[in-house]
Amino acid sequence: MNKYKVGIIGATGMVGQRFVCLNSTHPWFEIVALAASARSAGKTYREAVGHRWAMEEPMPEAAAQMVVLDAEGDAEKIAQMVDFVFCAVDMKKDEIRALEERYAKLECPVVSNNSAHRWTPDVPMVVPEINADHIKIIDAQRKRLGTKRGFVAVKSNCSLQSYVPALHPLKKFGLEAALVCTYQAISGAGKTFETWPEMVDNVIPYIGGEEEKSEQEPLKLWGHIEGDKIVNAEGPAITAQCFRVACSNGHMAACFMRFGENKPAMEEIKACWANFSGRAQELNLPSAPKQFLHYFEEENRPQTKLDRMLEGGMAVSIGRLRPDTQYDYKFVCLSHNTLRGAAGGAVLLAELLCAEGYIGHKA
Ligand SMILES: NC(=O)c1ccc[n+]([C@@H]2O[C@H](COP(=O)([O-])OP(=O)(O)OC[C@H]3O[C@@H](n4cnc5c(N)ncnc54)[C@H](OP(=O)(O)O)[C@@H]3O)[C@@H](O)[C@H]2O)c1
Repeated sequence: MNKYKVGIIGATGMVGQRFVCLNSTHPWFEIVALAASARSAGKTYREAVGHRWAMEEPMPEAAAQMVVLDAEGDAEKIAQMVDFVFCAVDMKKDEIRALEERYAKLECPVVSNNSAHRWTPDVPMVVPEINADHIKIIDAQRKRLGTKRGFVAVKSNCSLQSYVPALHPLKKFGLEAALVCTYQAISGAGKTFETWPEMVDNVIPYIGGEEEKSEQEPLKLWGHIEGDKIVNAEGPAITAQCFRVACSNGHMAACFMRFGENKPAMEEIKACWANFSGRAQELNLPSAPKQFLHYFEEENRPQTKLDRMLEGGMAVSIGRLRPDTQYDYKFVCLSHNTLRGAAGGAVLLAELLCAEGYIGHKA
């Protein structure tokens, strides 16, 4: 197969490092450009990352020797070199919006991990198993941007990657509301225990902006296309509390849910989870988990350390479904925050965009 040429913007960061690992062995993608801030530009990738390498696996050798480019200063050159870019940068939101639109207008599709464009009405925010059809809004976005190839597509926040997939197939039973508490790993803040020693033996009951994202982003995922924008769904309503906990990787969530008159039986819920699959499985995309939602009958599962790498970190683990005294049911769920919740989710989205013809090889 003629591989797609890929650039990674923010390659030196926590999510960028995941992108480097995932793309180094990817059957469809080949890394041709690595970019970060002007501070890293001109250094080899190995020098630029230095002691910040946080992956379990060693740095891929081909990437280690590449010279890092300046994401802003070298934008035109990068856009020429690649078929599309992944983007995960730590900059101000308005700067990220401008940077991503700049690449799009240079006719370079951008598959982004950043939150800056999640609320732009013609930018699809996609979990390929849930709302793959939203990518059709790209036609309207291209019209607005005046581009033929270029566009921005984003993935949703890592906090919701466990409970939204679990709730999604239950909407048909008239799911009305959910309450969720998330227990989020420190890699979600781009940190390790070395760089954030205060997190050893600690829980911090606040993550800036996270509760709003956890409550509101699901409504865009569950929305629909109307004309040139995506219109949010009105429900199910979600209320959230988000905690940072002393885990390296893996976001856990405790979820309570309430249905209307058509409340399903526990066995119906489990069957729904077992049988659920989406467009990613239908297209047999390389990063798609075979079984997206796994239910554990053991009462002490899922566990972060044991279960976060299920199906390469791309599946969601669920357990402890039981009746509740105030809601109808409660359960626990888990997903890997820098794989399914960040870089892996974006790679899956890029695969979907290639398979559906929105990203092509440059002539
Ligand atoms: N960590 C997660 O689990 C997670 C999950 C979902 C979404 N996200 C989002 O992904 C993005 C990156 O997160 P992260 O955790 O990977 O952050 P990070 O580890 O702090 O890395 C930030 C990256 O941004 C680059 N950068 C900073 N200023 C720049 C500039 N002016 N121009 C170009 N590049 C610049 C850095 O390059 P230098 O090395 O040169 O400074 C580095 O590559 C954020 O928007 C975050 O909200 C993260």
